[in-house]
Amino acid sequence: MAKTKTAFFCTSCGVESPKWIGRCPSCREWNTYVEETITRSANTTPGNKKARAEPVLISEISLAAEPRISLYGKEFNRILGGGIVPGSVILIGGEPGIGKSTLALQVALHTPSVKTLYISGEESSRQIKLRSDRVGSMGGNCYILCETNLEAIYTHLHKVKPQLVIIDSVQTLQTDNIESPAGSVSQIRECAGGLLRYAKESSVPVLLIGHINKEGGLAGPKVLEHIVDVVLQFEGDHNHLYRVLRSLKNRFGSTTEIGLYEMQGDGLREVDNPSEILITNHQDNMSGVAISAMVDGMRPFLVEIQALVSSAVYGTPQRSSTGFDLRRLNMLLAVLEKRAGFRLASKDVFLNIAGGLKVTDPATDLAVISAILSSESDLPVAQNTCFAGEVGLSGEIRPVGRLQQRISEAEKMGFGNIVISSFSKKEGIGKNPGIRILRAGKVEQLSRLLFKNQTL
Ligand code: TYD
Ligand code: MG
Repeated sequence: MAKTKTAFFCTSCGVESPKWIGRCPSCREWNTYVEETITRSANTTPGNKKARAEPVLISEISLAAEPRISLYGKEFNRILGGGIVPGSVILIGGEPGIGKSTLALQVALHTPSVKTLYISGEESSRQIKLRSDRVGSMGGNCYILCETNLEAIYTHLHKVKPQLVIIDSVQTLQTDNIESPAGSVSQIRECAGGLLRYAKESSVPVLLIGHINKEGGLAGPKVLEHIVDVVLQFEGDHNHLYRVLRSLKNRFGSTTEIGLYEMQGDGLREVDNPSEILITNHQDNMSGVAISAMVDGMRPFLVEIQALVSSAVYGTPQRSSTGFDLRRLNMLLAVLEKRAGFRLASKDVFLNIAGGLKVTDPATDLAVISAILSSESDLPVAQNTCFAGEVGLSGEIRPVGRLQQRISEAEKMGFGNIVISSFSKKEGIGKNPGIRILRAGKVEQLSRLLFKNQTL
């Protein structure tokens, strides 16, 4: 009988140690070691292995035989860098219920040209069938397997010979080599390693679905993120319909791409033109609303920033923001107070980004300030105007990157004016006859542009 052996693993980076240690020597995290039972089979010692691969000159490796496999969905393919690379391992992480399983199943069902094996350790085949009825099929070539044992999965992989494997989720897998329970650090590491070897040897791409932990990182050891080729994060607000698929790591493409989806009753729908849905009623004359021409990843789109400024009921004014960094909001308020003389210290300020999006682009600063000023003075921002600029600590409006993309997007969406920094270089801006470019150098100059034909 195999001897039972235990070892300690770092839950952050996956490093193994024979005894418990308080601080991981590898990733320097405190208190991350957990004990797990392991039983190694004899053939895993490195010396016993026969060499299976031979060194090859890089110039002699041919790429022609393995073009990228195009899957369902423009957004999904774009994020992967133009289709899935044969033999690559892709990890999709996200909160429970955000739509990871739906996305993976939809890709499988809507790509009839690719024989897919969808392996689920979380749902029964009947539940998956119910889901597939919801999202609708395009005559997909998709096999379902409900199995969590890695060795059994290998047997099925050799029998079915799929062209794409989906594992939902990597935390439910377990291999007989290790005795610790499914979801433990050593199991995840071993199973993901096994699947990686399978992918590289057979050139079949593997899509792993992974859980995330309380802090929002991918659950399991950090090594998981190191060994896979692509890490995608599916995020969004449960109370809103929009979901963003973001690439955090991509060995075969750019990590600046994002994909936008809308969760509907019949699955996820790709959003081709985000600006159209993120701005709802910019025609109405409402105070406290400003439109920002922002860029997320490579993609420009327009979002609506809403602010509400009201008299503070309690001594300490409240500041609250949804989708925007609260510390940045506090900084912008301090800038307004100090540099532009707006008395906001006795006011509650609430900020909201429409659509449940989270924005991190510093170019949204200008729209945030405009929305606050508009709400404070109860005057609507001049119609047809949007904003793109960063605000510095001394109240100066700083130029932002990808300005031309922002201006073109605003023009496409029918905006007549865009306010940018007066320090933006002329060379970076092309000809956009449909839109007037207004420049402001300091926040105190803003109100002149903001409330045209209206006096403060
Ligand atoms: P799911 O893919 O099961 O999430 P995950 O695998 O990330 O845990 O998505 C579940 C949620 O999506 C659930 O709350 C219901 C919703 N949903 C829809 O709104 N429409 C649909 O067509 C489907 C399949 C799910
Ligand atoms: Mg799921």
